[in-house]
Amino acid sequence: MNVFKTVPVDVIQIHEVSAVDLFIRQEDRLVLFLPKGAVFTRDHLVDLNRFAISRVYIRSDEALNFEEYVHVHMDKIITDPTIPSRIKAATFYLSSIHALRKAFEDPDAEEIEEIKKTLKPMFRNIFENKVLLEDLFSITEHDFSTYTHSVNVGIYATALAIQFYKGDSSVGMDFLERLSYGFFLHDIGKSKVPVGILRKQGPLTDEEWTIMKKHPEWGYTILMETGHLTDEAAYISLQHHERPTGTGYPAGMTDIHPCARICTIADIFDALTASRPYKRAMKPFEAIDFIGREACTDFDKRLMQSFIKMLGPQPESSAL
Ligand SMILES: [Fe+2]
Ligand SMILES: [Fe+2]
Repeated sequence: MNVFKTVPVDVIQIHEVSAVDLFIRQEDRLVLFLPKGAVFTRDHLVDLNRFAISRVYIRSDEALNFEEYVHVHMDKIITDPTIPSRIKAATFYLSSIHALRKAFEDPDAEEIEEIKKTLKPMFRNIFENKVLLEDLFSITEHDFSTYTHSVNVGIYATALAIQFYKGDSSVGMDFLERLSYGFFLHDIGKSKVPVGILRKQGPLTDEEWTIMKKHPEWGYTILMETGHLTDEAAYISLQHHERPTGTGYPAGMTDIHPCARICTIADIFDALTASRPYKRAMKPFEAIDFIGREACTDFDKRLMQSFIKMLGPQPESSAL
């Protein structure tokens, strides 16, 4: 039986050959809209717009081919000033998921370099406000895969760091860019955790937790061995599960580097706002309240204020 997933219409290239079969929903079934190998024309787009269709279906086993096709066109889209932010955001999201997926399968120097190449133009676009955060936030998916989580955390933490350090003349774009790479790669050590543990639906056993808790150190080792370890990436990979109360892992330290705290807030936020078979997803501001109640240092409180600003005007938060 075929399993399907949806992709945004925004990332389908006009005048290009489709890399996969595209389907649309008609009543309660899926019908083929454009076969693989056919050219997607402006007329196709007009048809989809007419029926207010913003997402189409692809077969899940063709997701990789689809991501690859989006990835190939990314440079052109990101650098074109006439293309709206919404389309850039959707293109970047799928393209970076593709780069992370490949790095998780085989975390070698080349794949990690490819991630940086994918992230660089997007980081600049976010930094210069050419891609709007609301467009990026609206595209985030929660398919529970480690690479989707990595991209979500990378986006939230990068946006938070930019917001937090805005106006601080001692913080340059190069530093923020190194931070951003560290955020997207914070869980790269999970590539060494057996898939059976990573994708387990229920609670982990003690032995499984022992293995899972090694991912910060494994991430540090991968970054070091592949020549991609910056100071920022080292702090982020090693300390993103530490807690100021000393209750975190792997070291149980209390003096945590600020860039790791930024990552932790984004990490928890993504976990809370994701729905799982055994729990409902929190609304963004519910999640912020929840994290805010745990914020025990002044630095954390200031970070949470930036997080709230970054998410834009929302209902009153009671956390701070
Ligand atoms: Fe982690
Ligand atoms: Fe994480």
